[in-house]
Amino acid sequence: MKTMFALAVGMFALVAQARTQSAEPAIIPHPAELKLSGGTVALTSEKVRTEIQPGATATLGAEGYRLAIGPAGALITAGTETGAFYARQTLAQLTVAGQTPCATLTDRPRYAWRGYMLDVSRHFAPTAELKALLDEMARYKLNRFHWHLTDDEGWRIEIKKYPLLTSIGGIGDKSNPQAPAQFYTQAEIRDLVAYARARHIVVVPEIDMPGHASGAARAYPAHAGGGSDRLPNFTFNPGKPETLLFLQDILREVKELFPDCGVIHYGGDEVHFGWGKWDTLPEVQALKAKEHLADKQAVEKWFNRTMAAFINSLGCDTGGWDEILDAGTDPAHTVIFWWRHDKPAQLAKALQGGFKIVLTPRHPCYFDFLQNPAHKVGRRWNGINELQRVYGFPETATLPADLAAQAAASPQVLGLQACLWSETCATRARREFLTYPRLLALAESAWTPAAKKNYEDFSARLKVHLPLLKQRGITCYDPFGNSPEVVDAPGAATYIDQPETRQKH
Ligand code: ACM
Repeated sequence: MKTMFALAVGMFALVAQARTQSAEPAIIPHPAELKLSGGTVALTSEKVRTEIQPGATATLGAEGYRLAIGPAGALITAGTETGAFYARQTLAQLTVAGQTPCATLTDRPRYAWRGYMLDVSRHFAPTAELKALLDEMARYKLNRFHWHLTDDEGWRIEIKKYPLLTSIGGIGDKSNPQAPAQFYTQAEIRDLVAYARARHIVVVPEIDMPGHASGAARAYPAHAGGGSDRLPNFTFNPGKPETLLFLQDILREVKELFPDCGVIHYGGDEVHFGWGKWDTLPEVQALKAKEHLADKQAVEKWFNRTMAAFINSLGCDTGGWDEILDAGTDPAHTVIFWWRHDKPAQLAKALQGGFKIVLTPRHPCYFDFLQNPAHKVGRRWNGINELQRVYGFPETATLPADLAAQAAASPQVLGLQACLWSETCATRARREFLTYPRLLALAESAWTPAAKKNYEDFSARLKVHLPLLKQRGITCYDPFGNSPEVVDAPGAATYIDQPETRQKH
């Protein structure tokens, strides 16, 4: 026994030594298959050939590629331009000081949806920052930017038909309710969508309804449906035909701005935070009578069903947070964003109902949760979201075993997404501090086959990427160097979400 143990330890040491000597390149996300063949080459653009072979999608999928690097140059083979684009990202990471190791790679993503959501309502993020974000997303092969454009603190998307949405609804943020209006013009949005498209990233707009509507309600109070003491005018009025037309006009302009988005996300979350007035609004009572709706829940479902069908009529799937599950939307054209990690039954129901699903549970996908227990600002209830926890997802998600297995095997699960809610982020530095390097962990989880994931190995590669992120001007938390917490400038919101208040709802 003792001998066997000694032998095993000896073999482990040999393997570890060989691994250090071979110095595998620090590619994130780790490719599905990578074989080094020895030697390096100095590649110039003439020495890199690309062959797009549509038939190759049969084996490589819509985003995969093969890369053969030899002493004479590199050959990229892919079924699509997207696959070739990802091959070039890999090539860029492989090349260090002008030298590229000779190697063969066959690579394709584990998930089709590799997303990141940014809330620009609580605090606004300028387009230069968003472009830097898209650059990083593309580098790490993420392909969906979910843009949370409207919420209580501010309406951030210009709608030509309703200019007050931005001139009034855009006023204020979480730090300062009087901050001058901040929003994206339609020209800026078109520019950003094109910038993302050039990086093979789809921008998915979110217009939150029927809750989280205070920004819009400040601009057009006639469409407000009441709220709570904490969140006045939190909802749209679901019973008013004019309000539905108003929202449909908005969605039509959204579709024009995001012609290739595939999914328009209409929120649907937390409506019960502020729907108390629906019990007395005359229009809601009339709707109940007309549509035979028993209560507020039924009204909410009717609204969700009706608006989802409208989004579908625009040629898009409807995205919604997991509250919309029971509304009776068309499962073939509804994407459920499962966010309530403490409600696995919602995920089970989405699977049973045949919906498409994006996994973005608060734990570990919400990046406004702390990443280090010593940090002070941010959410920490039910634990925090350390790098390793993000990396371990979805394999280590705390789900009943049968549900985890079902989700892992299901083609309905499109992929994974991180979300940054910006209550505690007034500045770019803080948003980036919460985003990086966790985004790289999520990127690997969403791309690399589960069997190829290894946290120790990822950590070693990440150590190579941290200084590169810094060189590119990104503020990044250093999980190895214990870097100090980046909090916002004095005067900015330091909102620390308490489990007691949050869970009441
Ligand atoms: C959410 O966090 N309210 C989707």
